[in-house]
Amino acid sequence: MLPPTALLFPSSSGNHHNMSFVSFLIILILLFPTLVDADCNPDEKESLLSFATNFPNLNWSATEDCCSWAGISCDDKRYRVIRLSIPDRGLRGVIPSSLQNLTSLSFLNLSCNFLSGPIPDGLFSSFNNLHTIDLSYNRLSGHLPHTWPPTLQMLNLSSNHFDGTIQTTNLQSFQSMITLNISNNSFTGTIPPICTNSPALVNLDFSMNHFTGNIPQGFDACSNLVVLSLGSNRLTGQIPTDISCALSLQHLLLQGNYLMGKIDESITNLTNLRSLVLSDNMLSGSIPHNIGKLSLLEKLELHTNLLNGTLPLSLVNCTKLQLLILRFNSLGGRLSDFNFSGFSQLTKVDLLKNQFSGELPKSLFSCKSLTAIRLARNKLVGEILPDILELPSLSFLSLTGNTFKNLSQALNILSRLGKLTTLLLNSNFFNETLPASGISGFQDLKVMELDGCWLFGQIPIWLMSLTNLELIDLSENNINGKIPGWLQYLPNLFFLDLANNLLSGGLPVELTRLPALATHQVLDQVKNDNFELPMLHVPLNASNLQYNRPASFPPMLDLSHNNLSGDIPVEIGNMKSIQDLDLSNNYFSGTIPSSISNLTNLETLELSYNLLSGEIPTSLTSLNFLSSFNVAYNNLQGSVPTGRQFETFSNQSYEGNPRLCGPPMQKLCSKRPDPSSPPSGHKKGLDMEMIYGPLLGFCFGFGIILTCQLHCMLSERTILPRWIHRYFIWA
Ligand SMILES: *[C@@H]1O[C@H](CO)[C@@H](O)[C@H](O)[C@H]1NC(C)=O
Ligand SMILES: *[C@@H]1O[C@H](CO)[C@@H](O)[C@H](O)[C@H]1NC(C)=O
Ligand SMILES: *[C@@H]1O[C@H](CO)[C@@H](O)[C@H](O)[C@H]1NC(C)=O
Ligand SMILES: *[C@@H]1O[C@H](CO)[C@@H](O)[C@H](O)[C@H]1NC(C)=O
Ligand SMILES: *[C@@H]1O[C@H](CO)[C@@H](O)[C@H](O)[C@H]1NC(C)=O
Ligand SMILES: *[C@@H]1O[C@H](CO)[C@@H](O)[C@H](O)[C@H]1NC(C)=O
Ligand SMILES: *[C@@H]1O[C@H](CO)[C@@H](O)[C@H](O)[C@H]1NC(C)=O
Ligand SMILES: *[C@@H]1O[C@H](CO)[C@@H](O)[C@H](O)[C@H]1NC(C)=O
Ligand SMILES: *[C@@H]1O[C@H](CO)[C@@H](O)[C@H](O)[C@H]1NC(C)=O
Ligand SMILES: *[C@@H]1O[C@H](CO)[C@@H](O)[C@H](O)[C@H]1NC(C)=O
Ligand SMILES: *[C@@H]1O[C@H](CO)[C@@H](O)[C@H](O)[C@H]1NC(C)=O
Ligand SMILES: *[C@@H]1O[C@H](CO)[C@@H](O)[C@H](O)[C@H]1NC(C)=O
Repeated sequence: MLPPTALLFPSSSGNHHNMSFVSFLIILILLFPTLVDADCNPDEKESLLSFATNFPNLNWSATEDCCSWAGISCDDKRYRVIRLSIPDRGLRGVIPSSLQNLTSLSFLNLSCNFLSGPIPDGLFSSFNNLHTIDLSYNRLSGHLPHTWPPTLQMLNLSSNHFDGTIQTTNLQSFQSMITLNISNNSFTGTIPPICTNSPALVNLDFSMNHFTGNIPQGFDACSNLVVLSLGSNRLTGQIPTDISCALSLQHLLLQGNYLMGKIDESITNLTNLRSLVLSDNMLSGSIPHNIGKLSLLEKLELHTNLLNGTLPLSLVNCTKLQLLILRFNSLGGRLSDFNFSGFSQLTKVDLLKNQFSGELPKSLFSCKSLTAIRLARNKLVGEILPDILELPSLSFLSLTGNTFKNLSQALNILSRLGKLTTLLLNSNFFNETLPASGISGFQDLKVMELDGCWLFGQIPIWLMSLTNLELIDLSENNINGKIPGWLQYLPNLFFLDLANNLLSGGLPVELTRLPALATHQVLDQVKNDNFELPMLHVPLNASNLQYNRPASFPPMLDLSHNNLSGDIPVEIGNMKSIQDLDLSNNYFSGTIPSSISNLTNLETLELSYNLLSGEIPTSLTSLNFLSSFNVAYNNLQGSVPTGRQFETFSNQSYEGNPRLCGPPMQKLCSKRPDPSSPPSGHKKGLDMEMIYGPLLGFCFGFGIILTCQLHCMLSERTILPRWIHRYFIWA
């Protein structure tokens, strides 16, 4: 092609001034497009067009210079394509083999598409400069290919469907590799020694696969390794001691495996470590004595292991610590023997379910950055003192399952923590009285758990000022008096658990107007944010152990096991968002309002052990999500509804109502109602309570909750004690 200046010079140097200016313009206009779009190498263009025929979304125009296409970069001579970066373009189908003709590529990013099938054999064998391949977040499958460009420095295959094993031969072409990321696939087999082939390796991510066997030795070759991420696999054996030779390591992430043995003291040689995450394994022994040598440590996550001993005193030298997550271990000692004062950057401390004793450590309250503290299920004693007000950012506080005393003082102090959103104090303060007045503040509080404390008193009026409350659990106490109608003024309350108390009187109509239960809109707004730490609960069906946000809780009203009486108000049909309604084990009388059939989200309806009479409204069969329904031990009559969900309920849902008839009851429905049947079956319910009262006490008194659960479940199938209800919050 003639350079544009060669055409321009003859006319501008001649005498035809008028002509020359016009021709200059004409030539300029003619040439302009080619000036900009000096056409790219036709072979490259053809390869790209052939590549694009597979993907309608790539609207590359054949009439343009391929170097100007979106996602393409060429070399300086605009001749060869060196970068192909088309992530997140909705590309579907297999990787076209025409890609292999773009032999000058150095950078390839096809991530976040819907590419599927295997990586074609030999696809990358003819590349000489390719240093980056990002194919993450696709649907690619098959085995890891053997041949890769020897120049490859970054390979990201994360979040695909690859499987098969990784052989040493797979790694032979990884001589230049710096970042190797095959996380979140289905690779199996053992992990081969990595750094022997790839001495330059800096980031290695094999997490979230199905790797088995031991972590291989050979870390003495890993002098450049900064990130080692092998979490969420099925690795066994001990942490190899030569890992302490990888002196550049900053992030050691081995969580979610079956690793056992001790955390060797030599790990404290890794003085560049910022994250030490070994959670969810079977590691035993104590936390390394010299952990304080890791002075750059920001995250220490060792939760869910078998660690014992105390918090090593040297830990105070980890002054950069932000996360200290040690829950579910057997660590112990007097917590106040440890000096937390130096942790000015600590945001979350979680020591749930250990054996720590003594009082709340005062030094903890000088960690000004703390947003979450969980010391639940330890052996802590004493009172909550005003020092805690030195934590301006504290949002999550869980002290559940210790033996703290003086609830009035505790609430008085904690109510002044302006950022507090989640307060779990359940199973403490035994037999104290819920303060009736004198509490104000708690302006941000969303979740309050005060269940299982056997508290006396009434539902306190100061709750009315907690206008951000979303969840409150006051179950398992000795609260008496009436359910106050003013609860309706808590605009965001969608989870109200008052079960197992001594409440009397009726179900106030005002309660049916709780805005978050009466309209869907409120609920959508309130349930978005996350808890600072995952909230753990004991489920009935042990499948899901943690709730990460309020949204995980169902909209619920539980008034079971009280002394409530009177009719169930017809206005109950207002609570349109409710999923779980439990009024069982009370003295409710009258009929079951048919308005309940307007509660279209209802999944659980428990009305057993009451004095309800009349027929079961057939309109309830329109409740499509109803999966648990129980009206046993009432005084109901007539035929059991049939159809839809009601085909799935057994006679246990109906027993103790002698005048109910039709399947699954044995009694056949006669044409006329039978006036001679005996009335209520409620007496039997009372008998049950007499049996369970002492047993409940026994269980709580000795605190062996899990064992007891099993006992209680085995000994009675129809009525489960309230405290193994599926929303029992454990910490
Ligand atoms: C790619 O190169 C092969 C030969 O290596 C050739 O057969 C094929 O036609 C080329 N494909 C395109 C799209 O240029
Ligand atoms: C090609 O598609 C992109 C988005 O996918 C769009 O921004 C662009 O305008 C399209 N170009 C043409 C020539 O249609
Ligand atoms: C590939 O593109 C995605 C999406 O833009 C981006 O997040 C990712 O960092 C890119 N990969 C590389 C290696 O630059
Ligand atoms: C793939 O991994 C590389 C290196 O870790 C990273 O730069 C890139 O952003 C990752 N790709 C995506 C889509 O996250
Ligand atoms: C893992 O990959 C799946 C798709 O295979 C994806 O949906 C998921 O978000 C990925 N997980 C993470 C943590 O990236
Ligand atoms: C691996 O890739 C995934 C997805 O791109 C990313 O989230 C992760 O941080 C990467 N791992 C490393 C060590 O860079
Ligand atoms: C690593 O730690 C062990 C035990 O703590 C020690 O004996 C050894 O000298 C240390 N090695 C290096 C290289 O610092
Ligand atoms: C910790 O557990 C080990 C067994 O794993 C035991 O030998 C050791 O005595 C225990 N140490 C303490 C302080 O309880
Ligand atoms: C903390 O580090 C200093 C300086 O290295 C050392 O003298 C001190 O003994 C360490 N403290 C503890 C409790 O190990
Ligand atoms: C706790 O550590 C701080 C420094 O972080 C120090 O000033 C204070 O004296 C220590 N307190 C005790 C009781 O050792
Ligand atoms: C609480 O009171 C019950 C009797 O009502 C008693 O059995 C129990 O021991 C008391 N608990 C505490 C911690 O005082
Ligand atoms: C259900 O609600 C509608 C309107 O909200 C009302 O008209 C109807 O009477 C209610 N059904 C019952 C059985 O109460």
